[in-house]
Amino acid sequence: MECSTVDTTKARFKALPLQFRFLNTGDIEELKLLCKSCFPLDYPHYWFTLITSDCRFYSLAAMLNGKIVGMLVAEVKCKCQVQYEHDSDILASSFGPDTPVAYILSLGVHPLYRRKGIATELFQKLMTEMSTGTTLVKVKAIYLHVLATNLSAIRFYLGLNFQRWRYLKSYYVIDGQFCDGFSYVLYTNGGRPPWSYSELIANTASALQDLQPCKITVRFMSWIISYFTALLPGCPKVVSPTLHKANCRVL
Ligand SMILES: CC(C)(COP(=O)(O)OP(=O)(O)OC[C@H]1O[C@@H](n2cnc3c(N)ncnc32)[C@H](O)[C@@H]1OP(=O)(O)O)[C@@H](O)C(=O)NCCC(=O)NCCS
Repeated sequence: MECSTVDTTKARFKALPLQFRFLNTGDIEELKLLCKSCFPLDYPHYWFTLITSDCRFYSLAAMLNGKIVGMLVAEVKCKCQVQYEHDSDILASSFGPDTPVAYILSLGVHPLYRRKGIATELFQKLMTEMSTGTTLVKVKAIYLHVLATNLSAIRFYLGLNFQRWRYLKSYYVIDGQFCDGFSYVLYTNGGRPPWSYSELIANTASALQDLQPCKITVRFMSWIISYFTALLPGCPKVVSPTLHKANCRVL
């Protein structure tokens, strides 16, 4: 009985009359307050201008009674534009440099409205956008960075089937202190990580095919035979092209 009361309450909370719309420059001051309540670092003013005016960004607001209670900002970029050191290898090598991926720059819900499904709704909107491809291309992976200590966000992303990609030592600087982070990835629209078993087998098979091991063996054997034949008195000397290049002397 108690259980059903809890479930009903939760369902009631989650059925908020939310509305969603894209952010615009008129939202900047309200956004600054929201971000202050959500993140441990201050974003510069130009960041707010950028995310509210540049069409590269998918910047969505969750509105409740005319107030912004949640925001999600994502950027679609090509695989080749992914920050090299940390995330450049999130996709299998079979995906070319122009493959689109999405980076979640920011996701925050006002503290008073958390655990009511608002971030999930915002994320679902992003996913719908990306799988229908109306305003965004069909990205193969969605990735993000999160503070290693931000357990609520990590639980939230794990619940959406994100997988941990990398431990990012001293990735953030907060109040002059280095803090560690993680990157998380969700594969979408047929995207996949490098070196899955099937790719490993396919790559090995294709590498072997390129090397043509049978031919190598035949070539090596014929060189061995020529080499030892040359040692016999009266035969011409044979020099391996490789050894010759390396400036080695052959008898
Ligand atoms: C992380 C954050 C965006 C989640 O927003 P939210 O609207 O509360 O999330 P939802 O209500 O959609 O939660 C969905 C599920 O995520 C998990 N979850 C979310 N917050 C959680 C928490 N504090 N502890 C444990 N699990 C949590 C739960 O499984 C939850 O489902 P449930 O409520 O049915 O158990 C919000 O806590 C936030 O704004 N945090 C500060 C900013 C931040 O850290 N952003 C992410 C930076 S990468």
